[in-house]
Amino acid sequence: MSSVVLVGTQWGDEGKGRFVDFLAEKASAVVRFQGGDNAGHTVEIGETQYKLHLIPSGIFYKSNINIIGCGVVINPIALIKELNMLKDAGIDYSNLKIAARAQVIMPWHLQLDGLTEEALGSNDIGTTKKGIGPAYMDRAERVGLRMSDMIDFDVFEKKARIIVKKKNEIFIKVYNAPAINIDEVLIEYKRCADIIRPYIIDSVALIHEIIKNSQNILFEGAQGTLLDLTLGTYPYVTSSNPIAGGVCVGSGIGPRAVDKVLGIVKAYTTRVGKGPFVTELLGAKGEELREKGHEYGATTGRPRRCGWLDTVILKYSVNVNGLTHLAISRMDTLGGIGDVKICTGYKQPDGTITDVFPARWELLDEFEPVYDTLPGWTDDISHVRSFDELPENAKTYLMRIEKLTGIKIAMIGVGAKRKETIVVEALY
Ligand code: IMO
Ligand code: MG
Repeated sequence: MSSVVLVGTQWGDEGKGRFVDFLAEKASAVVRFQGGDNAGHTVEIGETQYKLHLIPSGIFYKSNINIIGCGVVINPIALIKELNMLKDAGIDYSNLKIAARAQVIMPWHLQLDGLTEEALGSNDIGTTKKGIGPAYMDRAERVGLRMSDMIDFDVFEKKARIIVKKKNEIFIKVYNAPAINIDEVLIEYKRCADIIRPYIIDSVALIHEIIKNSQNILFEGAQGTLLDLTLGTYPYVTSSNPIAGGVCVGSGIGPRAVDKVLGIVKAYTTRVGKGPFVTELLGAKGEELREKGHEYGATTGRPRRCGWLDTVILKYSVNVNGLTHLAISRMDTLGGIGDVKICTGYKQPDGTITDVFPARWELLDEFEPVYDTLPGWTDDISHVRSFDELPENAKTYLMRIEKLTGIKIAMIGVGAKRKETIVVEALY
């Protein structure tokens, strides 16, 4: 029996959803611990592709509990849209639970996200404009609403009417923007509260009951290590802590409750939004990766920036997350594109090479990637179900990643479907 934390090791979109879906089969509970509907987790079951944003990617199994944990910021309108998507697809979500301590995203958060980005002009972050940053700002300022406030809507209404006054002053006086019509907002949010209320629970008590009963539990991270508010490429980050440490606050457990930390690695690198990217491929090769891998955002549809795998980033991820295992996604996408490169270090302006991801990432503009070039593989690998059956060059590539990071690969994705997964080591 184990508790496993699953995190993104790069800039998000590593394929976390498909591995959560795979591992959820043997878990009693799946817990999302941070972020909001800025996440886009794609899960393919049979011929159908589902895009989840807030709901844990373990929802497709009836045998487990799926918890939206207390570290998440929830847009109730987006949540209901997602529930309806599942309902229309005939997926039973009666096994969903929502933390009473999770924060609520309000229309003023969305409006402020848009206005702040607009005011920054060409210095914008490139957020998903889902109100994530402003919602976490309000949590820190202690003026946020919580899911627990939705249980008695009179409480919600009273608090919302007080909060909106200050928000509207900011919109009118600072941004010359329209004020929020709180009456309209409350009508919509009451409708949401009536739908969501039966799912709201004390998630911390439930999680500890599961742990006490020695059941398998999987903690699902959103975003990725370099998007971490503290440890990422600030300010080009999200406003939560996607690293493994975020699981403690985001679900209400201590560090000793975690047995394994699984880092999801895309076989190459992608990034949406602005910020540094040393191994970015700006020419035809980057375009080829984007088209072959359908690298367009699941949340915003924006084209993702693409580049080679960067093990300087991975080494940093190993340290800040305390990774015990890796799962590599998209090995199929990398096949058939000719030679493949792995970045092993950065050449600094004085000619020396470093493999330490710098605290001052501004320096990265002057760093050149140092590459190992390895021969590629052309074969279709989507039918492969064991490491030994993989083409020799694919094996060499994977073993090079293990050597450079010092971490064992437990799983390999060879296609988008659930079954297109190689398990090298079972995590529970
Ligand atoms: P998943 O879970 C990739 C990026 C945005 C932007 C920055 C801040 O699918 O891996 P925000 O709206 O969070 O304030 O935007 O973070 N970003 C993601 N990039 N995958 C994600 O989630 C992301 N969630 C946010 O593009 O650069
Ligand atoms: Mg995504």
